[in-house]
Amino acid sequence: MEEQLKKAKEILSKYKQEHLLQFYDELLEDEQRKLLNQILSIHFDEILQLYEKSKLDVLDSTEEVEPLPFVDKSKLSEKDLSFYSDIGKRSIQAGEIAVVTLAGGQGSRLGFKGPKGTFELDTLPKISLFEIICNYLKEASKYYGITIPWYIMTSSSNHQATIDFFKQHHFFHYPEQSISFFVQEDLPIINTEGKLILEEIYKIKMASNGNGNLFHSLQKHHLLDDMKHKNIKWTFIGGVDNVLLNPVDPIFIGLTISSKNPVASKSLFKKNPDSRDWVFAKKYGRPAIVDCENFVSELSKIQDDTGTYLYRETNMLAHMFSVDALCKLAASSLPYHRAFRKSAFVNYEGMKQVPEKPNIYKFEQFVFDAFSEFDMLTLLSVNPSEEFAPIKDFNGPYNPEVAKKLYEKNVLHCEIVDET
Ligand code: UTP
Repeated sequence: MEEQLKKAKEILSKYKQEHLLQFYDELLEDEQRKLLNQILSIHFDEILQLYEKSKLDVLDSTEEVEPLPFVDKSKLSEKDLSFYSDIGKRSIQAGEIAVVTLAGGQGSRLGFKGPKGTFELDTLPKISLFEIICNYLKEASKYYGITIPWYIMTSSSNHQATIDFFKQHHFFHYPEQSISFFVQEDLPIINTEGKLILEEIYKIKMASNGNGNLFHSLQKHHLLDDMKHKNIKWTFIGGVDNVLLNPVDPIFIGLTISSKNPVASKSLFKKNPDSRDWVFAKKYGRPAIVDCENFVSELSKIQDDTGTYLYRETNMLAHMFSVDALCKLAASSLPYHRAFRKSAFVNYEGMKQVPEKPNIYKFEQFVFDAFSEFDMLTLLSVNPSEEFAPIKDFNGPYNPEVAKKLYEKNVLHCEIVDET
């Protein structure tokens, strides 16, 4: 351990992070070992470069963007709907579809202790976010007579708790061998002085590095090979917290397949033109989601001859990627975005401190940055009151109470009607 300590000290001195060993002498031997191992496994170069580079980030300018065409679901005829639906159903029945749930986030805004997927809606009886997704899968499996493989991305902070939760609930009676849990990577978080922080006196604070880590993580855990082996052609990729998100939507699947693009996404019309939500557009001629913070109102007003707004489609984290596209992405590297958040830390007196204001930066890759790796993307604009009820926090518009009402109206009500 002496040798490790020497090495760790050299690294910390090189990167001016000596404070991480401030409490070393007070630690138990096991804790000392853990801390040294952690220090030796961190790529200080990578994280500090990300931090320095992020200070230079520039915003997009209007010249770079042009509209990205989209299909408005509400304007599709019955004939179109059944055309796409038939294609989608055939693909599902042929076992070509898998579902990926992104559940590696911290759920920091919700502040719920435990993996966000274990959060329960206050319905009668209560139902967790994981069970809601599983119910969509069970229903599809029953309807199509097949079992849809389900891949769940977790992070180091919630992986074990997620698996324990599934075990405790007997995998919601979904075939256990069809569910694969895999852990995404994480990165240290950094304070405003460019220092890594301690979560405990023996532990450096880490955070999952964004849902865009999906592609690398799927490959790292050999799950792309698993998909190929199962003859899967397409994956639906969605978040864990939208209770109206049907991961097996034959219309969306059919539209994606018939468009022949390797990637597709669902979008929502931005009602408030001044909202800061990022919008779908083409950037440098390629599909993207752009932050139009400095020209939001100009872009929001632009319409075509038919009165369609050209820059008002926002992301709802519901995507289709072909397995070939996933393989391509596993070999590419997505950019990192910096988020300014609140995070408790151990201060220089060795006391846990809970900040009142944002105090740290975390670095995340986003799935949507993958869009620019392709020439084109299929975009389907859907109705938010039918497909969008995420749970983000307790006080904002996306709170558990609103989600519960929409879930009861759209899902529970339909089940009752179906049964009668
Ligand atoms: P959000 O960005 O809304 O994050 O993630 P969150 O964890 O739910 O909540 P906050 O921002 O900490 O309050 C959207 C989806 O992406 C997943 C989340 O689990 C959620 O399903 N995600 C996010 C990951 O899988 N990994 C990450 O590193 C971040």
